[in-house]
Amino acid sequence: MSEPTAEATAAQANLKKVRTRHFQSAKESGVKITGLTSYDQLSATIFDRAGIDFLLVGDSAGNNVFGFDTTLPVTIDELIPLTRAVANAVTRAFVVADMPFGSYETGPEEALHTAFRFMKETGAHAVKLEGGERSAKQIRRIVSAGIPVMAHIGFTPQSEHGLGGHLIQGRGDAVNQLLADAHAVEDAGAFAVVLEMVPATSAARVTKELKIPTIGVGAGPDVDGQLLVWTDWAGFTTGRIPKFVKQYANLAGVLTEAVGAFRADVASGSYPAPEHNYE
Ligand code: KIV
Repeated sequence: MSEPTAEATAAQANLKKVRTRHFQSAKESGVKITGLTSYDQLSATIFDRAGIDFLLVGDSAGNNVFGFDTTLPVTIDELIPLTRAVANAVTRAFVVADMPFGSYETGPEEALHTAFRFMKETGAHAVKLEGGERSAKQIRRIVSAGIPVMAHIGFTPQSEHGLGGHLIQGRGDAVNQLLADAHAVEDAGAFAVVLEMVPATSAARVTKELKIPTIGVGAGPDVDGQLLVWTDWAGFTTGRIPKFVKQYANLAGVLTEAVGAFRADVASGSYPAPEHNYE
């Protein structure tokens, strides 16, 4: 993997609008791509202004917005308003709409229909769907209609029951299936591929073999970009977080402290103070 030049790094940072071609140029120049999930306009505005390259409105909203245990119950109709809020908030970032479980698996026509809904009703710039070889036909069909597709292989949360839990994929000989999946989605026309929970050495092999950029979520450093679920990354999540997440803030702690201070002020009568009152 080549070290990016200062010019290439500056060019990526100065983009007015991130497009699929910029994912490709980032890979070719060695500039790392950054992505976060987002499910609402407030977080999307902050991440966009801070220069995050792409925002994924993930079906992880199932866990982080709707309070489900898995992503499986999430529907298209639940994700559409969240995706629209994120797309409305950004000026620079590329917005990816996640296609939920049960919205594309029966075949290419169902997949295209779902992709049309996200593109027409939300303002997203691309869709994402899970699966390598098994989803290649769907990817090809969506791409043929002019819609960019981000693929997602390795651990695919929508298949967590089939995979037997949250297990690392592509370890040992299983790297061969990971490579087959990676080539299948590239051949089908995906512009980038997410590698979730795979050993760093396997991710490095995929990244070296593919022409399209790889985006790691728990895939080590030798990938073309990194993506994290924002609520895990910002310490907003109060439950268990995966080993690969680095927490950059402690939002849960900040909010808990703020709630304690608010309750105490209300109890003591020090809120509202004169400056908060209307004449
Ligand atoms: O829904 C999501 O947040 C995702 C990422 C974890 C890749 O699919």
